[in-house]
Amino acid sequence: MKLQFEKNVDLLPHNTFGISAIAKEFVRIDKSAHVEEALEYLRKTKINHLVLGGGSNILFTQNVDALVLQNRLFGIELEKEDDMHVYVRVAAGENWHNFVLHCIRNKWAGVENLSLIPGCVGASPMQNIGAYGVEMSSVLNYVEAVNIHTSERHTFSLSDCELGYRESIFKRKEKGNWFITHVGFKLNKRPVFHIEYGAIADELDKMEIDTLSIKHISQAVIAIRSSKLPDPKILGNAGSFFKNPTVDLSVLRAIQEHDEKVPFYPVDENTVKIPAGYMIEHAGWKGKRAGNCGVHEKQALVLVNYGGATGHEIFTLSTAVMTDVKNKYGIELEREVNVW
Ligand code: EPU
Repeated sequence: MKLQFEKNVDLLPHNTFGISAIAKEFVRIDKSAHVEEALEYLRKTKINHLVLGGGSNILFTQNVDALVLQNRLFGIELEKEDDMHVYVRVAAGENWHNFVLHCIRNKWAGVENLSLIPGCVGASPMQNIGAYGVEMSSVLNYVEAVNIHTSERHTFSLSDCELGYRESIFKRKEKGNWFITHVGFKLNKRPVFHIEYGAIADELDKMEIDTLSIKHISQAVIAIRSSKLPDPKILGNAGSFFKNPTVDLSVLRAIQEHDEKVPFYPVDENTVKIPAGYMIEHAGWKGKRAGNCGVHEKQALVLVNYGGATGHEIFTLSTAVMTDVKNKYGIELEREVNVW
C-alpha cells in the first residue's frame, strides 16, 4: 500500500485536549519502511513537520501549517533474557498503558508505577515520563529513530538520550530532528517495588494484600490516578500542564517564612522541587473556570477543556495562572506541554 497523504485534516480526535486544529497535510505511518518515503515527500515539498503519537502532551493554539506524521507502528518483541532481566523492543505507536499491562501479564517489572499514563511508547523517552517515584530513565535501554532531514537510522543509548526531569535530548538540542520508531526496555524479572510514595502506600493498605506484586502496584496507581486526574475521553486535558519548579533553598526558606506547610522534595544539597499544584491552588486557581476551560478541581496542575475551548483560550489561562504564581511566590512556572 502506498502512503496516503491527506489534506486539511482536523486534529481534534488526535489530541487529548480535544482541540480543533487543521493540519495542512497528514500521513499515517504504520510500517517502519514507510518512514523514509514520508520523509522524502517532506523534503520535496519543503513544508514543516510535526510527529504526533497519542497527542497527549500538546496544545494546539493555531492550525498546523505542516505535514503531520502520525506514528502508528505497532509490535512488542522480546529480544533476549538472562537470569535477571528481559530486553524488550517496542514499536513507538504502541499505547503506553497497553504496554504496561502487557509487562504485568508477563511479570516483567519496572513500569508498573507508570500505569495509566496516556500517550504512546514513542513519546515516553521524549519527556522522560515519570510518576509515583519511578521515571522512564530506570527502564530505558535505547531509542531507535530516523533522522527527519537525512533519513539516517540511528540508535540512541540511554546516556545519549540525556534524560532529566521531564527532559531529554529530543526536547532540547535534537528537537524536531528525529522520528522515533522503536524503544528498547530493560525490565526486571525480580521486581524491585517502589512504594515509598505516600499515596501508593495508603492505597495498598486499603487493598489488604498478603503478598505484594507488580499487579497490585499497578492497581494502586490506577486507583490514585483515576481519583485525581481527569480521563481525557471525558474531559480534555494533557496531564500536568506545568513542571514542578526546581528552586534554590533560599527561595524555599523565604516562602516558609509565611507558609510553613509548603511541600517540597530535595533535589540536591542546594535545591528543592516545590509542587506547582500547591502554588496554583494557593494562588486561588484550583477548580476555577475561565470560559470553556479551567483548572481541574482535584489537581491544580492540570488544565481542562470543558468542551469547545480553543488552544488560545487555554494558553491565555495558563499565562494568567503563571502570573499569579509569580506574584505570590516569586517563582516562574514552566509549561510542560508542547505548544504549537
Ligand atoms: N498539591 C496541592 N494541590 C493540588 C495538587 C497537588 O496542594 O492541586 C500538592 C499535594 O498535596 C502534594 C504535592 O502537591 O503535597 C504533590 O502532588 P501530587 O502527588 O499529586 O503530584 P504532582 O507533583 O502534582 C507529579 C507529576 C505527575 C505525577 C505525580 C505523581 C509533574 C509535572 N507531575 O504531580 O505527572 O503523576 O507527580 O508522581 O511532575 C504528568 O506529568 O502529566 C503527571 C500527571
